[in-house]
Amino acid sequence: MLDHDKTDGDGTGQSGKGVWKSGKGRGRATPKGRQYDDVALAEVRALLGDRPRRRDLLIEFLHLIQDEYGHQSAAHLRALAEDMRLSMAEVWEVATFYAHFDPLRENDPVPPDLTIRVCDSLSCELAGSETLIAALESGHDPAKVRVLRAPCMGRCDTAPVLEIGHRHIDHATPELVAQTLEAGDLHAVIPDYEDLAAYLAGGGYVRLTDLRAGGDWQAVQQTIADSGLRGLGGAGFPSGKKWGFVRGNAGPRYMAVNGDEGEPGTFKDRYYLERVPHLFLEGMLIAAWAVEAERVYLYMRDEYPAVLHILATEIAALERAGLIEPGYVDLRRGAGSYICGEESAMIESIEGKRGLPRHRPPYVAQVGLFGQPTLVHNIETCHWIARILREGPEILSSVERNGRKGLRSYSVSGRVADPGVHLLPAGSTVRDVIAAAGGMADGHVFKAYQPGGPSSGLLPASIDDVPLDFDTLQPLGSFIGSAAVVVLSDHDRARDAALNMLRFFEAESCGQCTPCRVGCEKAVKLMQAKIWDTGLLEEVSQAMVDASICGLGQAAPNPIRLVMRHFAEEVGGGVAPMPDSDGYDTNDALDG
Ligand SMILES: Cc1cc2nc3c(=O)[nH]c(=O)nc-3n(C[C@H](O)[C@H](O)[C@H](O)COP(=O)(O)O)c2cc1C
Ligand code: SF4
Ligand code: FES
Repeated sequence: MLDHDKTDGDGTGQSGKGVWKSGKGRGRATPKGRQYDDVALAEVRALLGDRPRRRDLLIEFLHLIQDEYGHQSAAHLRALAEDMRLSMAEVWEVATFYAHFDPLRENDPVPPDLTIRVCDSLSCELAGSETLIAALESGHDPAKVRVLRAPCMGRCDTAPVLEIGHRHIDHATPELVAQTLEAGDLHAVIPDYEDLAAYLAGGGYVRLTDLRAGGDWQAVQQTIADSGLRGLGGAGFPSGKKWGFVRGNAGPRYMAVNGDEGEPGTFKDRYYLERVPHLFLEGMLIAAWAVEAERVYLYMRDEYPAVLHILATEIAALERAGLIEPGYVDLRRGAGSYICGEESAMIESIEGKRGLPRHRPPYVAQVGLFGQPTLVHNIETCHWIARILREGPEILSSVERNGRKGLRSYSVSGRVADPGVHLLPAGSTVRDVIAAAGGMADGHVFKAYQPGGPSSGLLPASIDDVPLDFDTLQPLGSFIGSAAVVVLSDHDRARDAALNMLRFFEAESCGQCTPCRVGCEKAVKLMQAKIWDTGLLEEVSQAMVDASICGLGQAAPNPIRLVMRHFAEEVGGGVAPMPDSDGYDTNDALDG
């Protein structure tokens, strides 16, 4: 790696001065380990500019290198380690953890200039992503174009979806890819949205300003509690209550906003951010005010480049308008890792580390970011905080259906006529959700559904009268999670959908606990057999539920168990015949 010509001039390979002694009378020409290259160091320093070399900014700096060079060479990583006074191992372990980074060893080939990431999560698989991947792989020279599989990009309503550079292609086909490459613009398309001026004109930020001038945080907390708002990241914790827990711990306190939205099938956060970002921002600032947060860290997934642009623009506008101090909201970019949506893993990632979920207790409300009490909220939760405070708690509490109160933003995709985000009463059943989504797609008969992301597994069409809300699905071995409803039809097999889900968990498991890491891998193998070894799968499932640290490993068995319970005919003695398929054919895998 060391470029002798450029670094030392005497051919010793030594970039610094002096002889490195390792004992009396004995010396080495260089310090131990990889040596840094002066040219690479200068390049890294030019990229980083005068940014502070803080440990928590490591992922931001890795992005700078990846964006500039399309990969991270061993020389640049070593130089970054040098410049940040970190060990190479620390930099390497972080760079290799995230899917959107391409760290290279010394002799690794440099990836092609162009990367196409094709979503292969459930809704895209239903819409033919396997055929699309095969066509793209055979239609492009691998030396020039790299075709990669990627998990859900939060655009399931326009499946199948792919991304070239920062440009997403909805309803993707090889022809659309060719047209996009021909046109050459690989930037994200920024949608029309309500900017700061428009939001202010509609009375925006009056509530925040009033509260800051003399509001009572406990009264605000009560208003949130009266509305019945619960955390919309999936866990459903009563939102108001959290503020008291965080405030119960001595400051400084922080707020971390969860914009990871990685649960396949979920795109509600993106929906709101691409339309009304200031409702979210005002709600976030009200929550930050309520817990007296010193600073807000806004963690946004890298799969949403348009949202990142909108947020950067509007945060700068808030600073200019004097509504926040410069730097008060620190926008952080994820790097392609589902597990970083788990709140303690997100906090690790904001600290510049691998996204490994932490053991609890202590909870992040007690010991969170940088060891301090931290309030974590999902994007949509903040959106509703602003709406409740602007429009009153009745906006949620007055809506009732099937004995449930409130509203839910269902992300609906799969075999429905009108996929998209549908805001419905929280007591809606899957029949209501399908009706709101225009009914079943032409030629499809309702067979099964994923009620809330792969973590919620699959339920059969016969269970169609249960409100899709918090606490209603647990007795069925499922839960609503992020309300990502994917509808399957008589064209699909439940077992294939479950396999897709487990493949996702296998790829995204952080690997720190054995039951989850090995369990996902083992399950994926077992689920490809024509006849499932249900006893062994149940044993694996139980071990995962009992001994996994976080929700990923604990919920990953749900699709397995629910398919064994409700679709036994597909995994038992005879494999259910494959119905007419739209490119969703896993017979090959089953034969393996
Ligand atoms: C594996 C896993 C993935 C998660 N992914 C997300 C996510 O992408 N976005 C999110 O807001 N919450 C996610 N959560 C839930 C968070 O841990 C946390 O409960 C939530 O961000 C808290 O905010 P809320 O109370 O406003 O919902 C995930 C949890 C687990 C276990
Ligand atoms: S359950 Fe899985 S994802 Fe969660 S900490 Fe363990 S290995 Fe990581
Ligand atoms: S974008 Fe492909 S499944 Fe969500």
